[in-house]
Amino acid sequence: MQDLAGRVAVITGAASGIGAAMAWRFARAGMKIVAADVDETGLAAVCAELVDAGHAAISVRTNVASADEVEALAERAYAAFGAVHLLCNNAGVVPSGRYRAVWEFPLEDWRWSLDVNLYGVIHGLRSFIPRMLDAGHEGHVLTTASVAGLISGSGSAVYSAAKHAAVRVTEALYASLRERNAPIGVSLLCPGLVNTRIYESERSRPEALRPADGPARETAELQAIAASLYAGAMSPEEVAELACQAVLDERLYVLTTDSFDDAIRERMTAILERRNPAFATLLALSRRDVGERGRPSTAATSPTTAA
Ligand SMILES: NC(=O)c1ccc[n+]([C@@H]2O[C@H](COP(=O)([O-])OP(=O)(O)OC[C@H]3O[C@@H](n4cnc5c(N)ncnc54)[C@H](O)[C@@H]3O)[C@@H](O)[C@H]2O)c1
Repeated sequence: MQDLAGRVAVITGAASGIGAAMAWRFARAGMKIVAADVDETGLAAVCAELVDAGHAAISVRTNVASADEVEALAERAYAAFGAVHLLCNNAGVVPSGRYRAVWEFPLEDWRWSLDVNLYGVIHGLRSFIPRMLDAGHEGHVLTTASVAGLISGSGSAVYSAAKHAAVRVTEALYASLRERNAPIGVSLLCPGLVNTRIYESERSRPEALRPADGPARETAELQAIAASLYAGAMSPEEVAELACQAVLDERLYVLTTDSFDDAIRERMTAILERRNPAFATLLALSRRDVGERGRPSTAATSPTTAA
């Protein structure tokens, strides 16, 4: 989608981090913003600042885990602005206890992660794509998955499994739209570490999905490591810039770093060579990502390597 000015963007998870940065980036490109999030207070603050700065923006409190609420979001967006050109399925959560083994996660963690990280995307597509196709105009859909959806290993299986599925769903969306010659582009944003509040995701866990013995508590040492890793990570504004460029370029795969390339390659090569993989730990990969900040990332700067 080449022309953004005057067009309409719906962004979920817009109260914080990457979603808020995307709302600002697309507003600065002249788009009207429909900002959605479960965090009503944070959402109202982002929206008020956008409007104060002269942008057109509305906020719609939406839980993306609910098909009905996402459907209501679509109705509000079309009622307010008459069209939707860009859908950013961005809301996401990481249940605490990410260093647990796969069998140790309580069912509530699986349910919550899949509800938001996978069903959030599915609900967005089911409510918006038919409307966008009916309208017949140009459009674009961006899924915020994660590099966790491209690599494998022990780290946070509840999060990574949902992100792997979100990757697959988004690739299917891309293929289905191409088969139909639909004028709708697709981008799959797979960030490495980004300095947002994702590490505090427990703030938005629904009461009904609170495990009986409470959410997992990471050791003080792991908390300190995670805090320092996120503090040194890429900014959400840098990610929003890459997302905006991907929409303009109609680029499917959008990686924000090349620190995970070896891990992606190792997984794919092991599959193709029919051998057992050598998975690096999540901590080692994260440290490498943040440690490599400051040196130019070919993935982040060159469309050809990222495509
Ligand atoms: N920060 C990272 O390191 C990183 C890396 C890769 C991918 N991501 C992905 O980026 C996306 C944005 O996360 P972020 O890093 O900006 O974190 P963030 O916590 O700053 O923002 C996430 C937003 O999603 C909202 N949200 C949570 N549950 C919701 C629900 N059920 N319905 C609607 N909104 C909900 C939160 O209220 C919050 O405003 C997520 O999909 C995340 O998985 C983040």
